[in-house]
Amino acid sequence: MSRALRALSSTYVERRERLTQGAALSGAGKRAAFALFYGPLHYLLVRTIVRALPAATIGSRTLVDLGCGTGAAGAAWAHACNRRPQVVGIDRHPWALGEAARTYRAFGLTARTRQDNIESALLPKPPVMVLAAFTLNELQDRPRDALLQRFVERASSGDRVLIVEPRAGSVAPWWNKWRDIFLKAGGAEGEWRMHAELPAIVAKLDRAAGLDHRELTGRSLWLAP
Ligand SMILES: C[S@@+](CC[C@H](N)C(=O)[O-])C[C@H]1O[C@@H](n2cnc3c(N)ncnc32)[C@H](O)[C@@H]1O
Repeated sequence: MSRALRALSSTYVERRERLTQGAALSGAGKRAAFALFYGPLHYLLVRTIVRALPAATIGSRTLVDLGCGTGAAGAAWAHACNRRPQVVGIDRHPWALGEAARTYRAFGLTARTRQDNIESALLPKPPVMVLAAFTLNELQDRPRDALLQRFVERASSGDRVLIVEPRAGSVAPWWNKWRDIFLKAGGAEGEWRMHAELPAIVAKLDRAAGLDHRELTGRSLWLAP
């Protein structure tokens, strides 16, 4: 497991060009490492972020979890809401969709999952909550730019949009452009650093793979009407 986790971490950090080809979830070892290790980390980080953002936890009819992976980030936001939304998890990877369905169910959320390309997927009519956590970096520049345009338009029709990515600048060279457009549209950027009480298995894997996630970091873009 720790070998698979090291391979997965190196795909995220050093071989990012392979992400657009779905390299992160290729192979059972990497999938297991993703579910067992990064799932909880993304859950803890997104939960902290939505609790701190003004009005993020009011809830809504629907939350769309774009590139839902194992559903960890979507479950964190939906579960933190006063009025629990129905979750729509969208991913291109069939294994991820099965895991996401299990995650949403485990959190008592009403949810459906859909295999689709988030670059072109039809979304429910606004107002909904839109989440893209650790996902946009896996898209090519052109479709990502098209999504930016779409998010800004949808926010002006009532959507609340939350983007979460790792903090390292080199990992997301597109970030500054997105930040400027979100800020111009009245949104906010956040930088997050939190001490995490990691679940025992996550802490053990962290040490075994030579990583150190006792402190979790990330950054966010938030746009709400
Ligand atoms: C790093 S994972 C993040 C998963 C989840 N949002 C989280 O925070 O744990 C990125 C996910 O995006 C999905 N993905 C990447 N590009 C996609 C695309 N064009 N359409 C649909 N899903 C995509 C991948 O299959 C993967 O499950």
